[in-house]
Amino acid sequence: MHDSNHVAVLDFGSQYTQLIVRRVRELGYFAKLYAIEDFPNIGKPGAIILSGGPKSTSEADAPDLDFEALQGFGVPVLGVCYGMQLLNIKFGGTVEASDRREYGPASLFPTECSGLYESISESSQVWMSHSDTVKVIPGGARVIASNQHGTPVSLQWNQHFFGIQYHPEVTHSHQGLQILKNFLALSNDLLPFRIEDFKREIIEGIRKEVAGKQVVCGVSGGVDSTVLAVLLHEAGANVRAIFVDHGLMRKDEGIEVRRNFERMGVPIETVDCAERFLAALEGVDDPEKKRVIIGNLFIDVFWDSVGDAEMLAQGTLYPDVIESASNAKSKASKIKTHHNRVDRILELQAQGKVLEPLAELFKDEVRELGTSLGIPEDILQRHPFPGPGLAVRCPGIITEDRLHIIRECDAIFIGKLKEHGWYDKVWQAYAGLIPVKTVGVKGDERSYEWAITLRAVVSEDAMTADWVELPPILLRETSHRILNEVKGINRVLYDISTKPPASIEWE
Ligand code: XMP
Repeated sequence: MHDSNHVAVLDFGSQYTQLIVRRVRELGYFAKLYAIEDFPNIGKPGAIILSGGPKSTSEADAPDLDFEALQGFGVPVLGVCYGMQLLNIKFGGTVEASDRREYGPASLFPTECSGLYESISESSQVWMSHSDTVKVIPGGARVIASNQHGTPVSLQWNQHFFGIQYHPEVTHSHQGLQILKNFLALSNDLLPFRIEDFKREIIEGIRKEVAGKQVVCGVSGGVDSTVLAVLLHEAGANVRAIFVDHGLMRKDEGIEVRRNFERMGVPIETVDCAERFLAALEGVDDPEKKRVIIGNLFIDVFWDSVGDAEMLAQGTLYPDVIESASNAKSKASKIKTHHNRVDRILELQAQGKVLEPLAELFKDEVRELGTSLGIPEDILQRHPFPGPGLAVRCPGIITEDRLHIIRECDAIFIGKLKEHGWYDKVWQAYAGLIPVKTVGVKGDERSYEWAITLRAVVSEDAMTADWVELPPILLRETSHRILNEVKGINRVLYDISTKPPASIEWE
């Protein structure tokens, strides 16, 4: 899908590569990331961007590409950092290896203000992150921008080929987006990216792949699985949407999920297995053990209900695909890979039985797609909720009593956030139980009860988060209601921890 008139981003391994794709899409063009090993099988792009990367061009195993093939596309090419150094070598210049790293801000001084640097101001801040630098600039090439020391940071080798040493994709490069925009304006062949067109293509794609077969998908009430189920329904697929209620849901969540799907006219099946999960979790207080138990049981229950369905649809998103594909080193990526790529799914995938229609989209694009599918905004703007549910908000052992307390407090807190107009301003909010009993007074009596903690954070991608300075009146009203209405709680705390070092959830 979309492999013509798009922007092909070739991945040389920079940590910022995904951001380039993001920025291009923000500018209204479709961008796709390609592993360098796949080059030149990148369709018919209208422009090509070579990303940065951790290697030095002088290393024996430095990634390379077929330069003749690259030229053969006849479209504008932008080399970023490593990409620029590689291009300089290809054009006959040299690169000087260095152990010294330049990391941080620099000032950009364009030597001409057309083309790449149209409407870019002098001494605009750009972000550097590199060791090697270009040394000999080949004949015919021009320096089109330098830094504050007069060192070349941007080259043009010919009509189509440009290089920049800095990273335009990071926000610290203040006019980076404009520079990318200027580069893309050099292409005559880029088609604008509109979610409506994309929706049509996805639906056609689903129809072709499914072709009368029965498809199953899991739904949780979250944004991705909801959009997936509605898409399949819209495509007229013979779909079974299965909602596994593991009993670790919030207050009335099962009812709400079912009602939401009813509103959208998409039938779902509920598998109620709360007792099975609670029994499996009995007496377990170790966070990791809880996760493993829940994860494995979930897969078993889901697969038992799938029966002999011919296809499985998953709400895998683009960042997951990129991370799984990119030989990810971080633990987080491995966990994600694990989720969508357990053995049973890999087997089905090998047989062409896994459908992942959202695999080219970022989260906010999925929301946009949801809007264009007519999914109500309140469903699309729901806060994220973790797969293991309230288990990660209930440190210590999990009992029905404890879950009940969390549900009641959470419902009061979320209700107050909505009432005060704060629900949509925070990324995620919840109540968690602190399984410590403290002394209080209720009426004339001594009480000895649990404490509840409230957490509300803002975040962009859940990798980092900040606690929210909620209005004291909102906190006061929430606390008042919890202390008066929820049996078993005599203390309410507000969590003022950033991530890192704390995580968003308690476990
Ligand atoms: P942490 O607690 O790691 O959470 O800061 C980051 C974001 O991920 C959600 N989360 C999960 N989501 N399965 C999920 O689907 C999980 O096991 C899981 N653990 C955490 C969490 O709610 C937050 O949005």
